[in-house]
Amino acid sequence: MIQLFHVHKRYPNGTDALVDLTLRVREGEFVFLTGPSGAGKSTLLRLLLVMERATEGQILIGGRNIHVLQERSIPFLRRNIGIVFQDFRLIPRRTVFENIAISLEIMGMGGREIDRRVHQLLDGLRLGHRGGAFPGDLSAGEQQRVAIARALVNEPAILLADEPTGNLDPDLGQEILQLLIEISRRGTTVIVATHDHGHIEHFGMRTLVLNRGQLTDDRPRGAPPPVRQSQVVPIHAPLHALASGSGDDDAVQEVIADAEDLS
Ligand SMILES: Nc1ncnc2c1ncn2[C@@H]1O[C@H](COP(=O)(O)OP(=O)(O)OP(=O)(O)O)[C@@H](O)[C@H]1O
Ligand SMILES: [Mg+2]
Repeated sequence: MIQLFHVHKRYPNGTDALVDLTLRVREGEFVFLTGPSGAGKSTLLRLLLVMERATEGQILIGGRNIHVLQERSIPFLRRNIGIVFQDFRLIPRRTVFENIAISLEIMGMGGREIDRRVHQLLDGLRLGHRGGAFPGDLSAGEQQRVAIARALVNEPAILLADEPTGNLDPDLGQEILQLLIEISRRGTTVIVATHDHGHIEHFGMRTLVLNRGQLTDDRPRGAPPPVRQSQVVPIHAPLHALASGSGDDDAVQEVIADAEDLS
């Protein structure tokens, strides 16, 4: 279970990214986290990963107060949390198998167990035939499935996804979300940050809405979608520029740094 009590996050430049946030996500629950750009979605995910610390308030994960977690305990917490990004962040010069196996290798797991886990995930994500391929040879949807496999390989209790469908066309995005919902049905708590109202309305799962750092709505699963302004008065939606492709050097360095953290 994830619980936040009166969480406030102010960045050093004075930006209040999260304001008095109190919420609870149950074990095995699937939750969309939405709100306009700058609302604080990624900040909330970064707090759960302890990539950032809350300025005020308490965050409990599985009963543990991560607000007071010591630096040396962070890698243990992160083993219990998988993360998936919009831009996949796969290591380009490693095969699909190696991309998924890397954190287990760093943890010192035996080759046979690594093989078993990675193949099971590859089969489950319909990537059974792609283990030897390099990320650049895969479609965007396949790359995101590899990133999901990598996030799940430690068998984490929690899976966080930050705009996981942002680089995918709507059908592929829907398929990835369906997969994430299935993962939550097997007991993993899944939180997906997304701007995409179409997907949110399609799946009708619980939706937390942030606006300027505040929780402005918490729609339960199955609730009818709210009437949007754009349905009342036709407006021209802003065009969201697609983010650049995967595999840039910064992203690779970040993945390697994350993986090293696990050691
Ligand atoms: N490292 C940082 N330093 C200072 N301000 C930051 C930092 N990261 C984010 N912010 C600010 O905090 C607020 C919330 O940002 P955040 O990235 O969490 O929003 P978001 O909801 O994920 O937006 P988007 O949909 O564009 O990804 C924004 O005003 C942003 O400019
Ligand atoms: Mg974000």
